[in-house]
Amino acid sequence: MSDQAAKLRTLLEERAEEDARERKIGELYFGMADTTRVIAITSGKGGVGKTNLAVNLSVALQMAGQRIMLVDADIGMANVNLLMGSVTNRSLIELLDDDVQLEDVVEYGVEGVKYISGVAAVEAALNLSRSEQRKLHKKLGRCSELADIVIIDTGAGLNRNVIEFVLAAEEVLLITTPEPTSLADAYAVIKAYSTYTARRNIKLVVNRIRDEEDSFDVAERINQTTKKFLNMSIETLGYIYEDKAVHDAVHAQEPFIIAEPDSPAARCVFEIANSLLSGEKMNSVSRGWRAFLDRLFGY
Ligand SMILES: Nc1ncnc2c1ncn2[C@@H]1O[C@H](COP(=O)(O)OP(=O)(O)O)[C@@H](O)[C@H]1O
Ligand SMILES: [Mg+2]
Repeated sequence: MSDQAAKLRTLLEERAEEDARERKIGELYFGMADTTRVIAITSGKGGVGKTNLAVNLSVALQMAGQRIMLVDADIGMANVNLLMGSVTNRSLIELLDDDVQLEDVVEYGVEGVKYISGVAAVEAALNLSRSEQRKLHKKLGRCSELADIVIIDTGAGLNRNVIEFVLAAEEVLLITTPEPTSLADAYAVIKAYSTYTARRNIKLVVNRIRDEEDSFDVAERINQTTKKFLNMSIETLGYIYEDKAVHDAVHAQEPFIIAEPDSPAARCVFEIANSLLSGEKMNSVSRGWRAFLDRLFGY
């Protein structure tokens, strides 16, 4: 392991210990166990659909009665607020100011999904002093009062802030398309991640598929490689069809699940949300008649 990786690991272990201590204190004194789920959405290659999944999944889960907090942590391409139809100038980093509380930096989007822009913060957080980190940690801890599920839209690839988020989250959704370059980059993430931690909590989401076969194919290709070289297999959480509704909704700056709830892509996201909540396999989603017509007429 490289020096940097070892250092990162120690840092994360220290943090995990501290978290566990604080949780214990919370449970002992206030009788409240922190049951908030944290799900990071990441990818190897950029532009494969992370933000769209993060936003639409958040909306679907909120519709299902969960309180969602969506954190935009993609430094390069922060655009959760674009899809939420609003602009925010606030960011996590303001929490370092004693007068600013979590509620002050939280915005409310579609269906009442709460979201926070972490953009400037993520980069800055890497250079914070220990006491500043503690302050941020403490204030952010209150996310668990405001949300049942925290969803983090991370950047793509293997830079340090992406890895930190991925490692810190309990569940990770790794999104890929069937494109060979996207697959290769997804594998690189799995590989890097497997050297950092023994926890195997990455699940695949295959985006922009033409038919279900595509999804099985991707899962098989990834698993052939991970089994051979890493001695591990990766579960598939679900898939999302290539769908004009996604493209149109992005242009309209709306989540597709709201703009076209009957579209194949939206029905897939509802099923993925359902699977996350029930723990059962994603139900098969058919493309439907409209999509058939779209294909027929070349959309
Ligand atoms: N299922 C899909 N069907 C059609 N187009 C899609 C789909 N998913 C993503 N796209 C297209 O890809 C673009 C990038 O998606 P985005 O969610 O911003 O990716 P990322 O956050 O990974 O960079 C979208 O603007 C959209 O045009
Ligand atoms: Mg994005």
